[in-house]
Amino acid sequence: MANTVRTAVFPVAGLGTRFLPATKAMPKEMLTVVDRPVIQYAVDEAREAGIEHFVFVTGRNKGVIEDHFDRQFELEATLEARGKLDALEELRRDLPKAGQTSFTRQQEPLGLGHAVWCARDIVGNEPFALLLPDMIFKSEPGVLKQMMDAYEQTGGNVIAVEEVPHEDVSSYGVVARGEGPDERFSITGMVEKPKPEDAPSNLIISGRYILQPEIFGLITEQAAGAGGEIQITDAMQALMDMQKFTGVKYEGRSFDCGSKIGFLSANVVFALDREDIADAFMQELKTLTGEIPISIAG
Ligand code: G1P
Repeated sequence: MANTVRTAVFPVAGLGTRFLPATKAMPKEMLTVVDRPVIQYAVDEAREAGIEHFVFVTGRNKGVIEDHFDRQFELEATLEARGKLDALEELRRDLPKAGQTSFTRQQEPLGLGHAVWCARDIVGNEPFALLLPDMIFKSEPGVLKQMMDAYEQTGGNVIAVEEVPHEDVSSYGVVARGEGPDERFSITGMVEKPKPEDAPSNLIISGRYILQPEIFGLITEQAAGAGGEIQITDAMQALMDMQKFTGVKYEGRSFDCGSKIGFLSANVVFALDREDIADAFMQELKTLTGEIPISIAG
């Protein structure tokens, strides 16, 4: 039996330069998809997968994330007094329970691998999930839950992957595929942000990982990799000499909220999935798409 995964790490130290000026004073993880911050989607996905401890690796200007996962007594009292019990219940449901969150800081922007390494003492000697909150998913069940189901059978390390057009691989980590079906195949190699001609496949790492704690020791041994940063992908490639890596081509669709198009697209898709606004929003979209050619012509 594989060791249970109870802890999830959320690296949230990134500067969010692609969303300036919105992210000048506000963390990019607090940008909203409809009316929920991006980070909330990743936390919900982790909770659905059975995670009990949520570890955030933060940086400067990220204090609001800590506040977001705290209780807000004044707000709760006001909602209660005004009889807005649905909103109150939703707020309470979103919240991790007392003692379930930890926050540590990445003091310098040395890369994703380094950010994960900053969580090593909090995670301890246990397998853990790693969720990059820029990526959110429309999937049933959630992507991490799909990975947990695979992990129960395979143990070792598990990575969610998806196919992208070949010319897009250079924005991502890319895996080399070995034996096995889509839901559970062995990974034989990986490389961070390769040129399309050097990529081993068009299967990219989708920002969800289940990793064994031995990864921490290997992160420290990595020289700076792609983009001059300490990369988690390089440490995983090193760990592959000792441990098994399984790829899970998850069912669902990803939205890369680290890019403007992905973020805007997520807002459209998640809004159309909301009972309270879907019909009105669809009507609005139809009107807009009908009007756009006219305004371009005019
Ligand atoms: C990171 C990872 C990359 C992965 C990507 C998914 O890259 O290093 O392997 O494919 O997230 O979003 P970043 O987006 O931080 O450049």
